[in-house]
Amino acid sequence: MENLKRDIEKILFNHEDIVHATKRVAEQIMEDYKNSEQPPVLLCTLKGALPFMGELIKHIDIHIVIDFIDVASYHGGTESTGSIILRKDVTMDLEDRDVIIVEDIVDTGRTLKHLITYLKERKVKSIACASLVDKPEARLVDVQADYVGVESPNEFLVGFGLDYDEKYRNLPYIGVLKPEVYS
Ligand code: PRP
Repeated sequence: MENLKRDIEKILFNHEDIVHATKRVAEQIMEDYKNSEQPPVLLCTLKGALPFMGELIKHIDIHIVIDFIDVASYHGGTESTGSIILRKDVTMDLEDRDVIIVEDIVDTGRTLKHLITYLKERKVKSIACASLVDKPEARLVDVQADYVGVESPNEFLVGFGLDYDEKYRNLPYIGVLKPEVYS
């Protein structure tokens, strides 16, 4: 990964940090859902949460089921536009199910708030959110993840699912881009 690393100004969370944080989240989820009537639905929000989802489910040692939804709030830039589009809906019937939204990042919080409203309309039994990254200083709406991997300063992040213009999702760490890459 030396090639892409040339565009990175600094690494905030290396791969080991991410795996460690993800295992902690997995343990918390196991503890909270071990007595659930039905396996919780881990709902991966595409595309950014895919690497976190992949890591997370490896460490959950109780029954779960998975599904995917794609909502978009950023459109290729570095700032949230505030508008949200449903690109791909869930495939399962979520009525009366415990749903854990799996996010890569809670930034302004708009996406999570929108998802919670959407899932309530589907008559789910409960809603929680596990986010790899929380960026509390960026919050514009009152919402928070129940399980947080790492807390980040208010910087534009790439890697481990997080993109700039759809790129850098494949980095095994989370870092900050050099300004010349996007200016
Ligand atoms: C990103 C990220 C979260 C959301 C967080 O998704 O995956 O879903 O933005 O931002 P917010 O808290 O300000 O709403 P994005 O819409 O960029 O789609 P992607 O996952 O496909 O990159």
